[in-house]
Amino acid sequence: MTNQIAPSILAADFARLGEEVSRVDGHVNMFHIDVMDGHFVPNISLGIPVIASLRPVTKAKFDCHLMMTNPESYFEPLREAGADLATVHLEVFPNPKPVAAQARAAGLEFGLAINPPTPFAAIEPYVELCDLVLIMSVNPGFGGQSFIADVLTKVEAARKKVDSLGLSTDIEIDGGIGVDNIRRARDAGANVFVAGSSVFNADDPVAAIDSMRKAVEG
Ligand code: DX5
Ligand code: ZN
Repeated sequence: MTNQIAPSILAADFARLGEEVSRVDGHVNMFHIDVMDGHFVPNISLGIPVIASLRPVTKAKFDCHLMMTNPESYFEPLREAGADLATVHLEVFPNPKPVAAQARAAGLEFGLAINPPTPFAAIEPYVELCDLVLIMSVNPGFGGQSFIADVLTKVEAARKKVDSLGLSTDIEIDGGIGVDNIRRARDAGANVFVAGSSVFNADDPVAAIDSMRKAVEG
């Protein structure tokens, strides 16, 4: 299990996206890319052409969080654009087995996300399907929201489940993560930490990543 800080580019300056990504490249091995469809969530963010434009900028893994009602239609174009992992929402796919197979057939790793109101029991039967389980710590749709600490009990449950099955599934937490709460998320069992505003709104994004890494590993 490797701890990863995954900057969410949603908080970057889109007019200078390549520069923003380059600036922290080499300090992280994964970027979190939020794709919003204006339907599953009340916001629109970015899509395939932006991902394709960023692909030559970094070798880091592209962790694509698909806040969409029909993500499966985009798996192949996402893979062609350079995405590595596609996370879809259990709220969209109450039986996620077929969509997991579709993602893998397109050459993508598969992640499954649950929103704050969705209990861990809903995702528990599907943990084995996943390369990554995403526990949302804000209601999806916008960056810069406050961390919902109640979801940490779900992170604990996810960690127990993954360990009891002897799996190496990543447990990701997304929303409101910064230097003040990242350690609690790690202690609950998360190992992938999405950080948007705490990285890209910092005066020094590299220093922000370094302090979060110290808080996780120190
Ligand atoms: C929210 C997105 C998050 C968001 C995180 O819908 O899924 O990935 O970009 O941003 P911060 O870290 O600012 O909460
Ligand atoms: Zn996200």
